[in-house]
Amino acid sequence: MEKLVVTGKTHLKGEVIISGAKNAAVAILPATLLVDGICVVENLPNISDVKIYCKILEELGAKIEWIGPNAIKIDTRFISCTSAPLDMTSKFRASYYLIGSLLSRCHHAQVGMPGGCKLGARPIDQHIKGFERLGATVEISSGKITAHADTLVGTSIYMDIVSVGATINIMLASVLAKGTTIIENAAKEPHIVDVANFLNTMGADIRGAGTDVIKINGVDRLPGNANYSVVPDQIEAGTFMLAAVASRGDLIIKNCITKHLEPVTAKIVEMGAFVEDLGGDSLHVWCNKRPTKVNIKTLPYPGFPTDLQPQMGVILSTAEGTSIINESIWESRFQYTEELNKMGAHITAQGKSAFFEGVESLSSSPVYATDLRAGAALIIAGIIAEGSTEIYNLEHIDRGYENIEEKFRKLGAKIERVEDTSC
Ligand code: EPZ
Repeated sequence: MEKLVVTGKTHLKGEVIISGAKNAAVAILPATLLVDGICVVENLPNISDVKIYCKILEELGAKIEWIGPNAIKIDTRFISCTSAPLDMTSKFRASYYLIGSLLSRCHHAQVGMPGGCKLGARPIDQHIKGFERLGATVEISSGKITAHADTLVGTSIYMDIVSVGATINIMLASVLAKGTTIIENAAKEPHIVDVANFLNTMGADIRGAGTDVIKINGVDRLPGNANYSVVPDQIEAGTFMLAAVASRGDLIIKNCITKHLEPVTAKIVEMGAFVEDLGGDSLHVWCNKRPTKVNIKTLPYPGFPTDLQPQMGVILSTAEGTSIINESIWESRFQYTEELNKMGAHITAQGKSAFFEGVESLSSSPVYATDLRAGAALIIAGIIAEGSTEIYNLEHIDRGYENIEEKFRKLGAKIERVEDTSC
């Protein structure tokens, strides 16, 4: 087992280049199954979720060639199988996109119940409702989801709740359906726009992605034969912005879409730190004094992202005054607060709220990443804490951040990945 050893206190300083978005990549890879041709996907983050997805696509009959450290050429003309390997699909959440893609392309899909970060109940009723409205039958038994349709026919689908995954999955399922599908109350996250842009580049006809009404005019075939570059990762960029503030540092964040980061920028400025838009695709973020308390409520885009909530929690642990975070997306996203309390924070989590009584500083302790973003938060906590913090459960972090320790090290952090010999 490996662990990270982070030795604080460091004021981060320098430039960081943001990778392609994990949550766009893990939807675009299954979306390649809709292409009856060859396509090139660039700016793919080199993370374990992407590697697993590539293996699954190969098992389904796709031919993948890595043509650079972050680019693949994928030929999906000869997909031969509609059952995705159960052991691999149950390892992560985004495997549910295989249902929409395979249903659309092959009219049949069998996928293991998706796994992923344990953030509370993660139902998929809205995905299923969408598939059924398009004419599919869906059955769940023995840990598998099986979906089948002789024909998929476009229709109007109103989402009962705003769901990123269900919006993308229904988009995937309806791209090759007969007629027009309208998704109302759709999610608007940047990666939804990115998946729609990818599909349109390959020959689909999707309009309105990024608004709450998405219209998909079914086409007969996606010929592909095009290149697509994955959007920069909003959450990775936000993670480094918040790390700059937490460490009273000074960072230039390069290759980001500043518009996607407005909800984070607004809170950073409210806390008394600084964000300067350098034009193009860069932000300058710095903080020269103890941040002041702020209250946060996580919301679907363009609200404050739940995936940056734990990283923000580290800042609030050491901010002046008492701050409150209300988590409105996930039932159970405050597990990291127990780890921060081990490091000297004063946080009380009650249901979907947590109260952060700011302390002067954190101190080192062995801590456990309970999920991906909790892991990123603990790295930031280690960077600002006195002493050496040991972080365990790195598999969560490796799922979603490319070269995270290398990137932090270039900013001055003292961070090492070592084999844990104690067990
Ligand atoms: C996506 O999860 C992201 N994952 C999550 O990123 C992110 O936290 C989440 O969106 C919210 O932004 C991927 O993109 C792979 P949802 P997803 O469907 O699609 C409820 C990270 O750290 N719901 O928008 O699974 C659900 O329980 C992660 O990168 C239903 O009730 O999230 C939740 O309360 C973790 N029924 C809310 O909706 C459904 O059918 C939003 O979930 C679907 C969802």
